[in-house]
Amino acid sequence: MVEKIIEDIEKVIKEAKEGIKEVKDISSLEKWRVKFLGRKSLLTQLFSHLAHLPLEEKKFVGEKLNSAKNLLTQLYEETKSGIEKIETVYNLSFPGRKISIGKFHVITKVIDEIVKIFSKMGFGVAEGPEIETEYYNFTALNTPEEHPARDIWDTFYIEKEKGILLRTHTSPVQIRVMEKYPPPLKIIAPGKCFRRDAFDSSHSPVFHQIEGLMVDENIKFTHLKGVLSYFIQEFFKREIKVVFSPSYFPFTEPSAELSILCVICNGKGCSTCGNMGFLEILGCGMVHPNVFRNVGYDPDIYTGFAFGMGVERLAMLKYGIDDIRYFFLNDLKFLEQF
Ligand code: PHE
Repeated sequence: MVEKIIEDIEKVIKEAKEGIKEVKDISSLEKWRVKFLGRKSLLTQLFSHLAHLPLEEKKFVGEKLNSAKNLLTQLYEETKSGIEKIETVYNLSFPGRKISIGKFHVITKVIDEIVKIFSKMGFGVAEGPEIETEYYNFTALNTPEEHPARDIWDTFYIEKEKGILLRTHTSPVQIRVMEKYPPPLKIIAPGKCFRRDAFDSSHSPVFHQIEGLMVDENIKFTHLKGVLSYFIQEFFKREIKVVFSPSYFPFTEPSAELSILCVICNGKGCSTCGNMGFLEILGCGMVHPNVFRNVGYDPDIYTGFAFGMGVERLAMLKYGIDDIRYFFLNDLKFLEQF
């Protein structure tokens, strides 16, 4: 009798171990549990034989039965938690987890957009270093030492004695490009610029500009007007009144400022345009003959125009952003909107 029971216990264990291998989900696990641990299972039936056994054997068989039951219970629990884990990971009815992917900064996007518009007009893209020399940032641009116009740009010097500085505008790229390539030329140059300005709602010590330069025979101010007016309509995607007014830059003559009818108040006057109804968005002009001489272009043959626009300013107007600092604070709530 005892031997038969022990044999049966071993058989049950063996079958249960085989059976559990086939279990792949909760419902097949439940079938397994009913079969090997349920009320009608062989193991439960074997327990009922205990009562008829003499004391010694009862103890011996009882221990065997209990350890078999513990073993099967353990198998059950382990398999169950394994299945639950898998089902949590692979349950296709769960809502998807949002994958956050990186995106370009709004300033990068605006630069790309501007580059695209000028590319359509045949402008190529050039770049220059952010750490510049006085020569490229000022001297070659017809702003020699002691020239009062140097004060227009409050400059961060890296090594004052050596004339090494952080460029205050993208205009030095004009010089670098003209030194390298003969005319005719048609380029824009996007990049970072630096000025010793307070960090407030409309100023930042680091900002972006896009420089433009077109040189050929017979380039006139009307070409400049045409190119920039076209750019403004394309960038703001609507007809916007533009006004050119006289200005001064050492490297252009004549020089002008381009203003557009305030896109915020439509010319009525608001805080963004300082009640003027117009907003100044870029500096421009006809390249000064001295600049051509500095790069070895003949000013009697070639003429050209140049312009420099502030990217943050344009982005603020396009998207109605009232504080330049948003671009630099890395606030995801702001950045994710673009
Ligand atoms: N470099 C000038 C500035 O930063 C802008 C400019 C560029 C003006 C090219 C004329 C021609 O203010």
